[in-house]
Amino acid sequence: MNLYDVYPLFDVNIVKGEGCKVWDENGNEYLDLYGGHAVISIGHAHPKYVEMISNQVATLGFYSNSVINTLQQRVACKLGKISGYEDYNLFFINSGAEANENALKLSSFKNGKNRVIAFKKAFHGRTSLAVEVTDNPKIVAPINSNGHTTFVAMGDIDAVRAEIEKGDVTAVIIEGIQGVGGVQIPSATFLQQLQQLCNETDTTLILDEIQSGCGRSGKFFAHQWAGIKPDIITQAKGIGNGFPVGVVLISPKFQAVYGELGTTFGGNHLACAAVEAVLDVMENENLLDNVNKVGDWLLAELKKIDGIKEVRGQGLMIGIEFDEPVKDIRRRLLFEERVFTGVSGMNTIRLLPPLTLTMEQARLFIDKFRKVLKG
Ligand SMILES: Cc1ncc(COP(=O)(O)O)c(C=O)c1O
Repeated sequence: MNLYDVYPLFDVNIVKGEGCKVWDENGNEYLDLYGGHAVISIGHAHPKYVEMISNQVATLGFYSNSVINTLQQRVACKLGKISGYEDYNLFFINSGAEANENALKLSSFKNGKNRVIAFKKAFHGRTSLAVEVTDNPKIVAPINSNGHTTFVAMGDIDAVRAEIEKGDVTAVIIEGIQGVGGVQIPSATFLQQLQQLCNETDTTLILDEIQSGCGRSGKFFAHQWAGIKPDIITQAKGIGNGFPVGVVLISPKFQAVYGELGTTFGGNHLACAAVEAVLDVMENENLLDNVNKVGDWLLAELKKIDGIKEVRGQGLMIGIEFDEPVKDIRRRLLFEERVFTGVSGMNTIRLLPPLTLTMEQARLFIDKFRKVLKG
């Protein structure tokens, strides 16, 4: 059997990782400024992560959501505390798209409406509703194109208000920082206006923090820079450091109903061990401080480099936009300098390193980046 060929691949076989480094099958070492697409938060093969998952799988890897799982409650307490959302409730699922899917369902169950406001360039995943609120017609199959979404420009509060006034809008969904859209940060004022408008109209404000959450922006959630408190927050990627986990943080405004949501794998014992390890390491190693220190330094250094159109970002989520396609720069970084980076669209390099990136590794990256840009 062959693999269903949907991914354009780099010709590299990564077989090992440690901290912010990975190695290919030939023993070549790479600096990881990509984090396997914003997934690796506490670093590859962190000893605490390895220990907690290994112990858990040796004890009990899985049992179903039909019995008590005290690990879920423990994770909920820790996540509530570290994120500042102790009064919210937690629903576990397996991926980012599913987290958004469930957030949108919850909203529609609550207020009985069925249209969603999403933003230009948004990416929210590839399952049915998640892809319908994603602004990329190429990945929306006809079966997912059901007229549930209106896309408006990010920052245009009047357009959002005009849509909500039509009376059928269940939710507004927005990324804490747009990732696929090119590391676009919504302004604090816009987020505050959205929150106020949603509160006034019983519209659910959903913050997709799947990529920008778990400390990547320098606060636990990127929207916390704007001081808002959305109704629902979704999170995946970094929260499991590679173990597939999605979570939905739900405001106490929502009343849980038996059977309304459900999942076989969500919140299983191994997933809980992974999330608990991530949260413990974030706290014990003060990773938010590291993200702010290294992220601020990287942003400042990148802004000094000539030939870049714009540097955008917060913490360790950074976009470096050029006037021309970055394909060749990324290829040379990977094959000549052995540095992994991400991309948004054609012209923007996206940095999404583990949150443990050291100052020394950041300096090494800047040296290698400058070298590649010199040609
Ligand atoms: C902002 C955002 N939302 C949702 C998703 C979908 O997450 P997943 O691939 O885990 O379904 C992604 C993935 O890249 C994302 O960046």
